Amino acid sequence: MNPMIMDHPLIQHKISLLRDKNTGSKEFRELISEIAMLMCYEATRDLPLKEVEIETPVAMAKTKVISGRKMAFVPILRAGLGMVEGMLALVPAAKVGHIGLYRDPETFEPHEYYCKLPMDIVSREVYVLDPMLATGGSAVDAIQMLKDKGVKHIKFLCVIAAPEGLKALTEAHPDVQVYCANLDEKLNEHKYIVPGLGDAGDRIFGTK
Ligand code: URA
Repeated sequence: MNPMIMDHPLIQHKISLLRDKNTGSKEFRELISEIAMLMCYEATRDLPLKEVEIETPVAMAKTKVISGRKMAFVPILRAGLGMVEGMLALVPAAKVGHIGLYRDPETFEPHEYYCKLPMDIVSREVYVLDPMLATGGSAVDAIQMLKDKGVKHIKFLCVIAAPEGLKALTEAHPDVQVYCANLDEKLNEHKYIVPGLGDAGDRIFGTK
């Protein structure tokens, strides 16, 4: 499945502010949340609708409501947490699971240290969240963990992707629709996205 690049002007503008090294944690968190909300709006564009009849104060009306599978948001810890609030602002009924993966500083391989998911995750439409798609290792593994549990309908949302990560993810999981707001140039020797925005987790939580 081809990745969808969400280049809405509001998203692009907010990403420029995110990238600025002088943007502090409070503003960074607010921006990530706003971008996630805008991305959620786009990524839910294909949700099925069903017709219902509602009585307005004036007359009966045939209108539409969302039907089909319920949603779950699964941030990859820790940077993915920054996207949850914005997603929930648009879909407050969604359940939230968490997958914790860390990158081995030498091999850059992801290792699982935490996984807590809604009981009925298998029947939900699952949106995996991670603002930075760098090597793609964490996203590939997190999605594989969900598939191993029987989850069938998965979307992946990231703010910035490196071509290397996008390639790895779409090759490993061609059935997963990937949404990204910006495709950057490359990874550097430390596997940071260039130009990127630095370490998203550190910038969200002020740990640097
Ligand atoms: N994770 C980040 O937070 N930033 C990068 O550039 C790469 C991975």
